Amino acid sequence: MTVQRIHPSILSADFVNLERELERIRTADFVHVDVMDNHFVPNLTMGPPIVERIQAVSPIPLDVHLMISDADRWAPGYAELGAASVTFHAEAAQDPVALARRLREIGAMAGIALKPGTDPEPYLELLPEFDMVLVMTVEPGFGGQSFMPDMMPKLGRLAEARAKHGIELRLQVDGGISASTIGVAAEAGADTFVAGSAVYGGVPEDRIAELRAVAAAH
Ligand code: DX5
Ligand code: ZN
Repeated sequence: MTVQRIHPSILSADFVNLERELERIRTADFVHVDVMDNHFVPNLTMGPPIVERIQAVSPIPLDVHLMISDADRWAPGYAELGAASVTFHAEAAQDPVALARRLREIGAMAGIALKPGTDPEPYLELLPEFDMVLVMTVEPGFGGQSFMPDMMPKLGRLAEARAKHGIELRLQVDGGISASTIGVAAEAGADTFVAGSAVYGGVPEDRIAELRAVAAAH
């Protein structure tokens, strides 16, 4: 049976009360931390000092999603500060395989993220180098956008390639995941679900339980 994981995104949390906001998602598997540099995406969030503090107080492991240029320079630092998983965008690394190896060497899981317009084909043969592939189901940059169902064939393609390699690889979806979209993503092969507005838009632990239940039914 597939293990399904719910990763609330703290992009939708109250940034002035992050420690309290982390307490509200104790039942989550990982906390998804969106790092944006106003260069790779048209928005700006946080960098290493804040992520380091989140790491220090978080009761659950961190899943850091880097939406930054020059991932080669910055990604290893997030692994070094203790993030359990570090994901960078395919276009942001000069040599994605070398960077993934570096992250794994430091002790983090290595993830590669694909924007809606990014073709997965060049990465299919490289999947054993990664622990996770993140399929964006919105254009990266902002929470609260609508889920793009036309990304499901991409997930299917990745799930097929994962089976061919016979590897353990997490397939993560990020963007517009809610109780009404998570089922479609689970059916297409996703097992790791990021949800920002859907979780923090209600009582987080109730929303997490609901997402889990709907995903499990697929
Ligand atoms: C968007 C971020 C997402 C965002 C998702 O660029 O990568 O993680 O927080 O938010 P929702 O779930 O509201 O679409
Ligand atoms: Zn994200």
